[in-house]
Amino acid sequence: MKVAVVKETFPGERRVGLVPASVPLLIKAGLDVLVESRAGEAAGFADQLYLDKGAKIAATRDDAFGAEIIVQVRSLGANRKAGREDLSRLRSGQVLLGMCDPLGEPGAVDEIAKTGATLFALELIPRTTRAQSMDVLSSMATIVGYRAVLLAAMELPKVFPMLMTAAGTLNAAKAFVIGAGVAGLQAIATAKRLGATVRAYDQRPICKEQVESVGGKFVELPLEAGEAQDKGGYAKQQDEEFYRKQRELLGKVIAECDVVITTAAIPGKPSPLLVTAEAVAAMNAGSVIVDLAAERGGNCALTKADERVVAHGVTILGPTNLASDAPTHASQMFSANVNSLLQHIVKAGKLELNREDEIIRDTMATHDGQITNARIREALGTT
Ligand code: NAI
Repeated sequence: MKVAVVKETFPGERRVGLVPASVPLLIKAGLDVLVESRAGEAAGFADQLYLDKGAKIAATRDDAFGAEIIVQVRSLGANRKAGREDLSRLRSGQVLLGMCDPLGEPGAVDEIAKTGATLFALELIPRTTRAQSMDVLSSMATIVGYRAVLLAAMELPKVFPMLMTAAGTLNAAKAFVIGAGVAGLQAIATAKRLGATVRAYDQRPICKEQVESVGGKFVELPLEAGEAQDKGGYAKQQDEEFYRKQRELLGKVIAECDVVITTAAIPGKPSPLLVTAEAVAAMNAGSVIVDLAAERGGNCALTKADERVVAHGVTILGPTNLASDAPTHASQMFSANVNSLLQHIVKAGKLELNREDEIIRDTMATHDGQITNARIREALGTT
């Protein structure tokens, strides 16, 4: 059985779904590995590196799609326009592994279902210890949190660390991270390493200890949350009164900060608005906001996805594909996650899709022409 990694077609995407280091592991699992020519180039992995590890190069995309299993970083849903061109290449019984924004773009999953292919939506890997090695969301969020701080540091007209120099003392920059999930924690750790003083807030009180463990100071707001998180560890949506009060209290902290990184997300829902235009106006000129929730509307009222907005002297960035800016390491992590999932579903070179297994059940989005995942059906309004 063949597994193929294909070249990404999303504009500007530099990651690749499998890196050469994963090839011997897949061969050991009984798979032949096929690489669409130049698929890894933008991530720093030339065809020769794959050949050296025992893969074969497919000259055309159609050849690569001849494989029984296809790996890509962005499948349709996470690649709305160009991704559509691959639909005619998919066939019944074929397995596709990729990120596809299944809850945000359930219609795209339906289109894949109609091809008969079995789609594994990598965003739906359960957040469990057993599936940790397959968790692409955590991997990508790690890179994104790190890059967000570097962006902010380059944009800020100040340096991050406190410096005592012959020309006087420079105060440390004040950073505030809102949302202390995987990206937020990495942002806190990175800002701390660069020398900023870092505060952080999350609606899930359980984050306090994690924030402190990476060197941040947890900001506690006098707010009564309903249930703060679901059983998967994700934040639960709150009522509008909670968000109103939250914005008001956050505004006070934001006004004192040079850098604000926002990461607050609710899976499948628009991002909560946490930084109002008034809060931006109250910041010092020169301050920077990096809004990592830009793709789903943003946590800041003034964010425009993938644009650089300057308002009230404050620069607001809303990058939506930061993981692709560190494509070598992002691909290395993604590939390790995919390899781990493949080892789970392929036994002695044969597919074994045991639907009783939690990882397979949760991640499998389509099979035999149907959407098999209840959360996606619900998002589509068909259950
Ligand atoms: P995410 O990207 O869905 O959200 C980012 C953060 O925003 C979360 O920490 C969330 O609580 C926070 N947030 C949402 N609304 C907010 C609001 N109104 N105000 C402030 N903060 C708000 O989350 P991510 O990073 O994907 O992970 C969330 C959690 O999932 C982790 O902290 C962890 O508990 C769990 N997890 C478990 C794993 C495992 O067990 N294998 C792996 C990764 C994550």
